[in-house]
Amino acid sequence: MGLLDGQVALITGGGRGLGRAISLALAAEGASVAIDDIFRDENGVSVADEVVAEIEAIGARGLALRENVTTSEGASAMVAQTVEKFGRLDILVMCAGNMVRGKLEDLTEEQWDGLMSLHVKGHFLACKYAIPQMKKQNSGSIITVSSRGAFFQVPASKTETKDLRQPPSTVYSAAKAAIMGLTTTLAVELWETGIRVNSLLPSATTQLFPESKPRMVGGVPPSESLDPADVAPAVVFLSTPAAKNISGKFVYASGGDIIVYGDQLDVRGSRMVRKHGRWDAAELADVLPSLLGVPVGE
Ligand SMILES: NC(=O)c1ccc[n+]([C@@H]2O[C@H](COP(=O)([O-])OP(=O)(O)OC[C@H]3O[C@@H](n4cnc5c(N)ncnc54)[C@H](O)[C@@H]3O)[C@@H](O)[C@H]2O)c1
Repeated sequence: MGLLDGQVALITGGGRGLGRAISLALAAEGASVAIDDIFRDENGVSVADEVVAEIEAIGARGLALRENVTTSEGASAMVAQTVEKFGRLDILVMCAGNMVRGKLEDLTEEQWDGLMSLHVKGHFLACKYAIPQMKKQNSGSIITVSSRGAFFQVPASKTETKDLRQPPSTVYSAAKAAIMGLTTTLAVELWETGIRVNSLLPSATTQLFPESKPRMVGGVPPSESLDPADVAPAVVFLSTPAAKNISGKFVYASGGDIIVYGDQLDVRGSRMVRKHGRWDAAELADVLPSLLGVPVGE
């Protein structure tokens, strides 16, 4: 028996990196998983097809999609094809993303618009077309993907310059902060429905962040691993009945570290739990609700 038997998930950007790891973890718990990803390798092979093959190899059901999440046509087709194939939609995880590095003064208008569109409009459109189906089912778990990079630590005073961490990109931070705003607001908008909205703040080595380094952020010591598979159990947990009272929260996951942010207006007010190794979703059901201060679901 998997924790997600009979459930259907749609993962944007599911062909590589965190989306791939999350897709495999959801499938391993019994979910049927639709993988949307526009990327094809140099031989024209679709990464969505590759992940579906991995999912089918563990005996689960998968669906490969290659829709562009930044267009209404793409986002609506992605949801429609998922429901057509699997009959429902329970879990939406939005991993489609990219990065543009550089100082604000050097960014072009096209770079700004492109990155904001992929992250922010991509979240808007995926949610817009998924929510009506979830409302019909009176339930749903929406996982937005944000980043601790949404906010950078500002030194107490301009006299402090030592160890100042340079942000890689203002537009990326702005997009991720927008997703955090979308998360809390949408969670409240959907409060009376059975649809929950939570945000994953991951850290892992992927093709997008090949140079990710474990490092101290906000007084939190660096995690012990940057394997994307270590991030996935938090998403699995947030989609299980044990998380049914959790909505509008930000959950950071990296290696064996889970951090929850207590007050959304004070993202630095965090509580942390560390395991030496990878969590599984059932273990997180024991620790996360109390860390978040919400009752455990059934
Ligand atoms: N890796 C990290 O440490 C880290 C940290 C914080 C946040 N994130 C966020 O996690 C998400 C996943 O990042 P990742 O590191 O796994 O990167 P990744 O590049 O491995 O995966 C992103 C996937 O999105 C796909 N994609 C891009 N544009 C798309 C579109 N228009 N429609 C459909 N698919 C599209 C890409 O082809 C790619 O496969 C991103 O939003 C990223 O900003 C990652």
